[in-house]
Amino acid sequence: MPDETLHLPLIQGVLHAHKDTPGALLPVLHAIQDGIGHIPDIAIGEIAHALNLTQAEVLGVISFYHDFRRVAPARHILRLCLAESCQSRGAKALAAQVREHLDLDDHGSSADGQISLRPVYCLGACACSPALELDGQVHARVTPQRLHELVEGCLEKESC
Ligand code: FES
Repeated sequence: MPDETLHLPLIQGVLHAHKDTPGALLPVLHAIQDGIGHIPDIAIGEIAHALNLTQAEVLGVISFYHDFRRVAPARHILRLCLAESCQSRGAKALAAQVREHLDLDDHGSSADGQISLRPVYCLGACACSPALELDGQVHARVTPQRLHELVEGCLEKESC
């Protein structure tokens, strides 16, 4: 288990910079996640104490916004579009395929930490639906076979 106390200097620096700012919680959470990659357990109490909030309030905000992560991110991020155009061209079936293939939920990560699934609502590639973004690269007109190849590529290689 990683030593979370290693993150304390960054967390305390962020809190020192923001603690007197009204509405500081969201900027603090973003800064900590940007700096560490996620919001570790040790940050919750530190944030609550510095901003005069309860830990439940801090956790409530973190869980409300899907972009905040409580654990380190997977190596690969698969953002699958589930907006109208992509849905009309099979995106829900593609999402079900990924969930079954990797045994995860929406917003979940595979057990080996290789891939996280992030449903999104439009990638700007509606004319080429269904679309997804894998590690920042958009793939359009994705078929079940192509999705399988992309996922397998992530599982087999160090990077895809
Ligand atoms: S609806 Fe999927 S890319 Fe726009």
